[in-house]
Amino acid sequence: MKEKVINFFTERFGSKPEVFAFAPGRLEILGNHTDYNEGFVLSTAVNLGTYFACRKVDGDVCSVTLDVEGLNDDRERQFSLSNLDEKQPKDWANYIKGVIVELQKRGYTVPAFEATIMSSVPLSAGMSSSASLEMAVCFAVGKLIETYTDADVFAKISKAEWAKIGQGCENNYVGANTGLLDQFSSVMGKEDHLVFSDFRTLDVQNIPLPHNLAMVIANTFVKHDLTEEYGERRESCEKAAEFFNSNDSSKTHLRDVSDVELESAKADLSETAYKRAKHVVGEDERVIEGNELLKAGKIAEFGKLMNESHDSSINYFENSCPELDALVEAGTSLDGHIGARLSGGGFGGISVHFVEKDKAETYASELEKLYKEKTGKDTETIICVSGDGAYVETV
Ligand code: GLA
Repeated sequence: MKEKVINFFTERFGSKPEVFAFAPGRLEILGNHTDYNEGFVLSTAVNLGTYFACRKVDGDVCSVTLDVEGLNDDRERQFSLSNLDEKQPKDWANYIKGVIVELQKRGYTVPAFEATIMSSVPLSAGMSSSASLEMAVCFAVGKLIETYTDADVFAKISKAEWAKIGQGCENNYVGANTGLLDQFSSVMGKEDHLVFSDFRTLDVQNIPLPHNLAMVIANTFVKHDLTEEYGERRESCEKAAEFFNSNDSSKTHLRDVSDVELESAKADLSETAYKRAKHVVGEDERVIEGNELLKAGKIAEFGKLMNESHDSSINYFENSCPELDALVEAGTSLDGHIGARLSGGGFGGISVHFVEKDKAETYASELEKLYKEKTGKDTETIICVSGDGAYVETV
């Protein structure tokens, strides 16, 4: 794919690019909607992602061409660096422009460039294709800034800060009020490892994945829009946190609330705030426990936590959908099943299944069949491999 995107650039713009960057998509393994509540997540970068090749040009107009499955027309964009405020709703170029705006806000002079993009992450499936695009743009454009200005970009900007630049693009430019998880996992990933993140301290541990384990994902093809329902869920979490904060100012986020405290405050909270908080507080506890179980090699117990997490999504956070439930339920009945749950924002997208490695292929094809029987619909499965985080190279 790297060679492909470089060749694509050469065909499109007449000679080779200067810079190549790759940034992976991610899977959320445990810890749902905990990131913006300053809690914990176990995630992984995958070996699928966005490939970005570029070269500086004179003037202030950027030209970008994309070749991504599922986006067949409308592959060309030109935009002026002096006119970035002009955005088109739902335009893929917003993920590039928004990153440039974030870099400019931080005082960097971004040179104009021409670029080509290819991607192996399924679009809008819950593997964060958009975050992987943002992080690939960050690293590639960062390299151009470093080459053409005095700024020592990679010495100054930490990995966590790169993730915040991507998140800034999403929050301020695209208009989705999402947390830091997707971008953070894309930069912090390590092959054959999960990323254990603390979204208060931004500390990271890479936890080895057991070698006899495979990750199967299954796509519902139900498109999730993270602008509306996501925002609503986030508000309910904040309301619940405010209640605890008004009684104890040291408690600023749901991260600071235990299940016992939540239960004793149940009568004082609205039913919705209680249910959303119940999910988040439970997820934090499951991530902490899950991390210990993984380290101890207790993978079957870990799998149970994944299924509990999905049940909590159904009962408390109400961010599942019948298709995701059918996939998780079908998976649970199959040979080799360890655990399964929805992955990411929810309301559609993918389910992630931990499966005994030697059974993964049969599991995936049985899952497709069983899902069809149950719902009459098709799913697509991928056996996912955990991969390294984003990187950039000169070509
Ligand atoms: C989406 C968001 C993340 C995170 C997850 C849910 O992927 O982009 O920040 O909140 O949903 O855990």
